[in-house]
Amino acid sequence: AKEQRHEFVIQEAAVTRLCNARSIVTANGQFPGPAVEVNEGDSLVVSVVNNATYNVTIHWHGVRQMRTGWSDGPEFVTQCPIRPGGSYTYRFTVSGQEGTLWWHAHSSWLRATVYGALIIRPRDAVPYPFDFHGEVAPIMLGEWWDMNPIDVIRTATRTGAAPNVSDAITVNGQPGDLYSCSSQDTAVFPVKSGETNLLRFINAALNTELFVSLAGHTMTVVGADASYLKPYNATVIVLGPGQTTDVLVTFDQPPGRYYLAARAYASAQGVPFDNTTTTAIFDYGAGGTASPAMPTLPAYNDTATVTTFTTSLRNLHSVGLPSAVDEDLFFTVGVGLFNCSSGQNCGGPNGTRFAASINNASFVLPSTVSILQAHYQGDAAATGVFTTDFPANPPVQFDYTAQNVSRALWQPVPGTKVYKLTYGSVVQIVLQGTNIFAGENHPIHLHGYDFFILAEGFGNFDAATDTAKFNLDDPPMRNTVGVPVNGWAVIRFVADNPGVWLMHCHLDVHITWGLAMAFLVEDGVGELQSLGAPPPDLPIC
Ligand code: C2O
Repeated sequence: AKEQRHEFVIQEAAVTRLCNARSIVTANGQFPGPAVEVNEGDSLVVSVVNNATYNVTIHWHGVRQMRTGWSDGPEFVTQCPIRPGGSYTYRFTVSGQEGTLWWHAHSSWLRATVYGALIIRPRDAVPYPFDFHGEVAPIMLGEWWDMNPIDVIRTATRTGAAPNVSDAITVNGQPGDLYSCSSQDTAVFPVKSGETNLLRFINAALNTELFVSLAGHTMTVVGADASYLKPYNATVIVLGPGQTTDVLVTFDQPPGRYYLAARAYASAQGVPFDNTTTTAIFDYGAGGTASPAMPTLPAYNDTATVTTFTTSLRNLHSVGLPSAVDEDLFFTVGVGLFNCSSGQNCGGPNGTRFAASINNASFVLPSTVSILQAHYQGDAAATGVFTTDFPANPPVQFDYTAQNVSRALWQPVPGTKVYKLTYGSVVQIVLQGTNIFAGENHPIHLHGYDFFILAEGFGNFDAATDTAKFNLDDPPMRNTVGVPVNGWAVIRFVADNPGVWLMHCHLDVHITWGLAMAFLVEDGVGELQSLGAPPPDLPIC
């Protein structure tokens, strides 16, 4: 294992997409940002220098960060943001994980343009659990706004309304040639006839779950979120924001050009979404100018295809989980509405403001110090930075997935609440989607951990019957789970990583509205000293 050093200079750069010239925030002037490639077991030292005019932090999405919580990156959770002119060095080891992860800004909506791949290959002399000839470049799916995305979310927050949807879906920052004015902006992946390649997909979009398909070719899924899976053949793969999927493709079709295409899976009824289609071209190098073949993508609301895909993924290995758990939690996740008082801008439906919550608690970031710093410094409750009364169960029971639930039943309460976990405890969470405003698939991401996905289903979770469906043998291990629209998913992890760990919906509009909470995991003696002192360059607020 080796130590790798990188420098990310956060800086504005001029780019043109859809005939629209803008200045965007980038890492090192690149969009998407630089790929970081390591072998399992390597250490990373990444100095981030902020030469932009926005606050920034960098999060290493899916990296376990075992006892390196100071390097996790979500602003006001594990660190104060790096101010313009400031810098901070992230130091961590990537161990026990192989496959594809990514990194992204974790400050406002900056991750729209500040993101890149994190590729983790096996150590030298350690084989992959499958055969292939080579890799194509990582395939990063994203979203493009003609407006500055920071202004998009600032406007929505001010007015209480929903933000504009994106103007294009992108592959490696390029919309592709189905949009007007973007035929030059199409990513091309050269391939060799007869070879089997490893393709690494990353959904870096802010607010869009995606169907992805490659014309004429079957994709064999072999991993997701840097964890291996039993090979599964698919013509369409599904990625929620934050998720990655590794597939093998054998280029065994008549030499030519084939479209890779992606478009939204929009689970909610009546909620606006970007319904455009992005394309990239897989090119056998045979020449010719014929239009590439186009794959058939599912309808935007094809939940059945999503369910078939996600429930077909199985861990490569048997893990044999015990049935006993220490913390049996039930979290409702959903979008709700705040009643609005006069003087506020109430641009939401029927004079409300949009809000979102977990167990009716709508998460508010601190502003003077991060939660982790506040906890490390001592009695956080006394400082008023956060409280430890995050509810383990929803305060009100009702039919979560019914239409037209009375708003009076579900007014989220804003606050900075954390839930304390005893070091080493076995934690199980039923994530129950709700239909307060609209039922929707929520990609829920946990920092600092991978979790097993035991089961998922539709309607209200019923412990009496649904527990029998748990896969305790070969459940897939992920860091982001799609909680089905008007349904539920059950996850399991062991709280073996002391620190403060955010869990949130990876639709950025929902985290903005408060669909988040944090776990505070103590070590065996109830303190965080095993995490080590904050690094001397940790930014202050
Ligand atoms: Cu990929 Cu909290 O983020």
